[in-house]
Parts: sequence; C-alpha cells; structure tokens
Amino acid sequence: MLSQTLGLAVLALPLLAEAKDCSQAAFQKIIPSNSTFNYVTKVAAGGTFTDAFANANATGLPEGCAVSVRVPTSGNSSYNMAIYLPNDWNSRIITTGNGGYGGFTNWQDLGVYSHYGFSAITTDTGHDNPNPLDSTFALNKGSLENWGWRAMHGSVLIGKALSAEYYGQTHKYSYYSGCSTGGRQGLKEMQVSPEAFDGLFVGAPAWWIPHLGIYTSQATLGNLPQNSSHHISAALATFINDEILKQCDPQDGVTDKVIMNPEGCVFNPLTLLCEGASNSSACITRPQLDTLYKALHDWTYFDGTLIFPAPSLGTPLVAYIGDSPIPNPMGTGMIEHLLLNTTEPYDWSTFNESVVRLSEAIDPGNASPDDYDISAFEKRGGKVIHWHGMADPVIPFRSSTYFYSQVASSVAPHGIEMDDFYRFFPIAGMSHCSGSEEAPWFIGGASQPLTNVSHGVPGFEDAQHNGLLALMRWVENGTAPEKLVATKYNDDDPKKGVYRQRPLCPYPSEPVYTHGKIGFASSWKCS
Ligand SMILES: *[C@@H]1O[C@H](CO)[C@@H](O)[C@H](O)[C@H]1NC(C)=O
Ligand SMILES: *[C@@H]1O[C@H](CO)[C@@H](O)[C@H](O)[C@H]1NC(C)=O
Ligand SMILES: *[C@@H]1O[C@H](CO)[C@@H](O)[C@H](O)[C@H]1NC(C)=O
Ligand SMILES: *[C@@H]1O[C@H](CO)[C@@H](O)[C@H](O)[C@H]1NC(C)=O
Ligand SMILES: *[C@@H]1O[C@H](CO)[C@@H](O)[C@H](O)[C@H]1NC(C)=O
Ligand SMILES: *[C@@H]1O[C@H](CO)[C@@H](O)[C@H](O)[C@H]1NC(C)=O
Ligand SMILES: *[C@@H]1O[C@H](CO)[C@@H](O)[C@H](O)[C@H]1NC(C)=O
Ligand SMILES: *[C@@H]1O[C@H](CO)[C@@H](O)[C@H](O)[C@H]1NC(C)=O
Ligand SMILES: *[C@@H]1O[C@H](CO)[C@@H](O)[C@H](O)[C@H]1NC(C)=O
Repeated sequence: MLSQTLGLAVLALPLLAEAKDCSQAAFQKIIPSNSTFNYVTKVAAGGTFTDAFANANATGLPEGCAVSVRVPTSGNSSYNMAIYLPNDWNSRIITTGNGGYGGFTNWQDLGVYSHYGFSAITTDTGHDNPNPLDSTFALNKGSLENWGWRAMHGSVLIGKALSAEYYGQTHKYSYYSGCSTGGRQGLKEMQVSPEAFDGLFVGAPAWWIPHLGIYTSQATLGNLPQNSSHHISAALATFINDEILKQCDPQDGVTDKVIMNPEGCVFNPLTLLCEGASNSSACITRPQLDTLYKALHDWTYFDGTLIFPAPSLGTPLVAYIGDSPIPNPMGTGMIEHLLLNTTEPYDWSTFNESVVRLSEAIDPGNASPDDYDISAFEKRGGKVIHWHGMADPVIPFRSSTYFYSQVASSVAPHGIEMDDFYRFFPIAGMSHCSGSEEAPWFIGGASQPLTNVSHGVPGFEDAQHNGLLALMRWVENGTAPEKLVATKYNDDDPKKGVYRQRPLCPYPSEPVYTHGKIGFASSWKCS
C-alpha cells in the first residue's frame, strides 16, 4: 500500500488550492444552458459516495468534489453524467464505461481511478437500470442514441470543462478505461471524436453491435429444444470441455491447465463419440456432435461471409450454448427493442439470417465503432492498449482479432503500423473481462476488481504489470509496451500471494515457454 502511494505521488503535480470551489455557482457557467445539476457535493477524505443512478458505492475516497449534470436530449430523452474531482489531482482525466445494456453512473470505477489521482468521468448512458440484459430503454430512440454514443460524447465534453474549472487549469492527458460495453463506448467515442482521449485501455469490446446480440441467441438456439436428441446438457458440456483441455493443453508445450494457443490446437472431437465408448454417460451422439461442430465454428452467411466468430477452444461451452429452455435474452431483447421496436415477444421459430441484414441496415443507436480508419487519432499521438480473454464466453475472443485486422488494413494506406499506436494483448484462459482458475489474468483493467484492493496491481505497481500505467508511459514518455505481465493471486486474494505470473504479448506474437518454473513470467518469452 505504501509503495503504491509513493509511486503515485510522483505523478501528482502541485496545484493552486484557491481554484477548488465545490459549489454549484462555481460550475454554473460551464454546463450547457439547457442542463441542470443533480448535485455538487464536497466529499471528505475517506468518504463514501454514490448517487441515485449508480450500481455501487465508491468507498475510501480521497478528499474531493462530486458533480453530476442532467442533459436533455432529443425525443424526450436525457442523460446524466458525473465526475469525481480529487483535490490531490494528477493533472489527468479518465473516462469510464458501463456494461451490457445497463445504464448507471459507475461510481465504483470513479472510486478506483480517484486513488490514482485522476478526475474521473462517468455517464449513465441515458437510462437508469443497471441490468445488463434489459434493453427496453431502446424503445425510446432518443435513449438508444444516448446509449449508442451521444451520452458518452456529451459527458466527456462536460466533464473536461468541469475539471478545468475546478482546478483552474486544463488536464494534461485524457484517458479512457472500460471493458465489454465499456470497451465499445471508448472505441466509439474515439471514432466520433479523435481528440477525446490520448490513450484508451480497452477490454473485450462489445463492438459489433448489429451482430453480437443476435449471435449470443443464435449460439443457444442451436442447442434447443432441451428434449431434442442434439441437445448438450450442462454436465455433458463440462465433459466436452475436459476433453478439449486434455487434447489442447499439451499442444502448446506446457501442461498447466491453460490453453495458451487455442487457434493452434488440433482438436479431434471424434474421441468423444459414444460409438465404442465404455461409459455411456460420458460420450456424445452424432446429433450432439453436430451441435458441438456448430458451436465451435464461426457463424456465417450462406455465402461464407462472417457474421460472428465462434468462441475459442477452451471457452466454457455451457456458458455460450446455454442451459436454459429459451434462447439467450440478449438477442431476443435486441430484436424486439432495438430492431423491431416492439414489446411483442419475438418468435424464434421464424428466425433466419434476414434479421442480421435488418440489423446491419438499422445500425441501432449508431453504437458500433466500425469506422475502422482511426488514422486521425493516431496522427495526434493517440495510443490504444486493447486486451481480451481467450476463454471469453460472452464476447468471443476472435471478434477482437477481427476488429484488429479491420483497423490494421484501414490505417495501412496511411503508412501507419499497428505496433506504433495500437497493441492488442490476448489473455490466455481468461473469461469475460476477468477471472481464470489457472491462468494469470489480472492487469488492473476495468471490470477487474479484486476484493479489498482500492486500485492497481498489489505488489507490482509498475508499467510492466499494470496496463493503465503502461498506457500512460506509452502516451507520455513514448515507451511502447513490448509485453505486459499478468498476475494470478492465490484465491484471487493478493494477501495470499502470487500463484502465477505470465507475459501477455502484443498480437500476433505469443507467449512461449522457454525454461524454469511455469509460474514465473521470466520462464516465458514473446515470439
Ligand atoms: C451503498 O452502501 C449502502 C450502505 O452500505 C447500501 O445501503 C447501498 O445499497 C449501497 N448503494 C449501492 C448503489 O450499492
Ligand atoms: C442540450 O444541450 C446539449 C449541449 O449543447 C445538446 O447536445 C443537446 O442536444 C441539447 N438538448 C436539446 C434537447 O436540445
Ligand atoms: C417523457 O419521458 C418521461 C420519463 O420517461 C415520461 O414520464 C413522459 O411520459 C414522456 N413524455 C412523452 C411526451 O413521451
Ligand atoms: C419436446 O417437448 C415439446 C414441448 O414440451 C413437445 O411438444 C415435443 O413432443 C417434445 N419432443 C420430444 C422429442 O420429446
Ligand atoms: C461415467 O461418466 C460419468 C460422467 O463423467 C462419471 O460420473 C462416472 O463416474 C463414469 N462411470 C464410470 C464407470 O467410469
Ligand atoms: C417505437 O415504439 C415507441 C413505443 O413503444 C414509439 O413511441 C416510437 O415512436 C417508436 N419508434 C419508432 C422509430 O418506430
Ligand atoms: C426470413 O425471415 C423473414 C422475416 O421474418 C421472412 O420475411 C422471410 O420469409 C424468411 N426467409 C426465409 C427464407 O425463411
Ligand atoms: C475485506 O476487508 C475487510 C476489512 O478489513 C474485512 O472485514 C473483510 O473480511 C475483507 N474481505 C475479504 C474478502 O478479504
Ligand atoms: C516518464 O518518465 C519519467 C522519467 O523516467 C518518470 O519519472 C515518469 O514516471 C514517467 N511517466 C509515466 C507516465 O510513466
């Protein structure tokens, strides 16, 4: 704890105390004339803060000022933004994101980033319901546009102005950190406004909006109905995952219950077949093999064009083919509320790929960051650190490699190399945004909370282990991250010590075991 505090003190700059006026009057001229304050509140050192739109409390805050503004937007919609302004400021701003369809002010993340000394911005995305699956807000197209991009865009502009007013000087650097929908929101705002951020720390972005929600339901549809001969039960799915691990784990050179290179694994599912199996409750039938085949292969249009990549080998099967009698509600809600604008239940028996074409045509909420040519962002010195768990069952890992390749081919004509400004770090074995039983996964990313840790990577508060510090070093000092080191603590509790550490390598390079203990980062190299 002490070393963390000292490390951050180096980043803090002296400031004029008299500039810090935490009153509505001080900010009145800053906010849009059509907007109103929800609150302007001083917070004492060690304080707890939350608001009516939040899904969590920020605790142990440094002394500062909490401000929230409500902005009316088109079609009887509005959004709320909030900012936390710590008095001991590091001259930097960070913007945080949300999750799924959820609308909430992210006080949890504002708390985390205040401990680094950032002034930190959040938006409720234009509706207030933290449930990541509830898309009914999208029936109001103004609210959908807010969730898509408008709330984030306006919140960043207002937040920057509030910060400048409070400290009496503009920020030196502007960062973004978010995972999942939070990843999407950052990439979208960077495309809408290349000057919004100097650096983005983006995890598992839910970026391909016209396809993603429908994919999640389509993946479960293939495993239904539950009483059919092709259905794979949760128990059978676990058995299949065990066999995938058994075959793929040694193929990467190290048997450690982590599939380091799922794309390189040659997996033979025929070993699972009941034909000839001695144990009839631990095998799959031909119809179940068909279901498995579909689950492991990309979803494409009839002509072979990609609709959505399948999750990588090693991703928990039951988590994406489902264990429920109905298709994943993510896609059901998307079709009803974002596409057809109805509360009538969608009838999956009529489903076909024309729904995906419709979704592409509508591009709901303009939410998708698919303007891949981000050369304007690169030209002003912007940097991206993008990360994604290879065992992500919610947003398949290879949707990120696809995004990466789309950006790469769009910036190449400008003479821009990805490594110069955009590095993608796959995290082998990690689930959605966080978590793995065996693989090192923690890099201090958004949606990677550790119990009883205020912020950062305990014991390793440096740019090698903390991806946000790596991004700051890249943006501010020009030192590009050649690798990051991910950490897995025993029981995910830093007090119990480190279980394993391992390098994450900038795609397309990969961590390869060289020699020594497999739990040591030094036993691996990027190649
Ligand atoms: C904040 O903490 C209080 C007191 O523990 C609790 O009642 C409340 O539900 C929390 N708020 C949120 C949004 O989690
Ligand atoms: C309110 O002001 C903001 C900021 O200028 C603007 O983006 C928004 O469209 C305005 N709202 C309405 C309903 O005109
Ligand atoms: C505007 O939105 C509010 C809150 O969602 C709702 O109560 C009101 O009926 C809406 N007004 C119109 C004209 O749609
Ligand atoms: C599966 O369940 C449905 C609905 O309960 C029923 O109509 C159908 O006959 C069942 N099919 C089989 C193969 O048991
Ligand atoms: C058969 O497989 C099931 C499921 O994996 C397992 O629980 C059971 O112990 C196995 N039976 C034998 C005789 O191996
Ligand atoms: C969507 O449905 C809502 C009511 O459910 C209606 O007020 C709105 O006009 C519809 N919007 C469009 C674009 O059809
Ligand atoms: C696909 O679905 C659409 C919309 O429900 C329907 O109009 C169309 O006839 C369907 N096409 C096929 C080939 O089933
Ligand atoms: C977190 O810290 C509090 C206060 O020190 C303690 O009561 C609690 O048990 C800790 N929780 C965990 C999961 O370690
Ligand atoms: C930049 O380099 C200087 C000198 O080594 C160091 O003190 C500072 O912390 C670095 N800044 C960042 C953001 O890493």
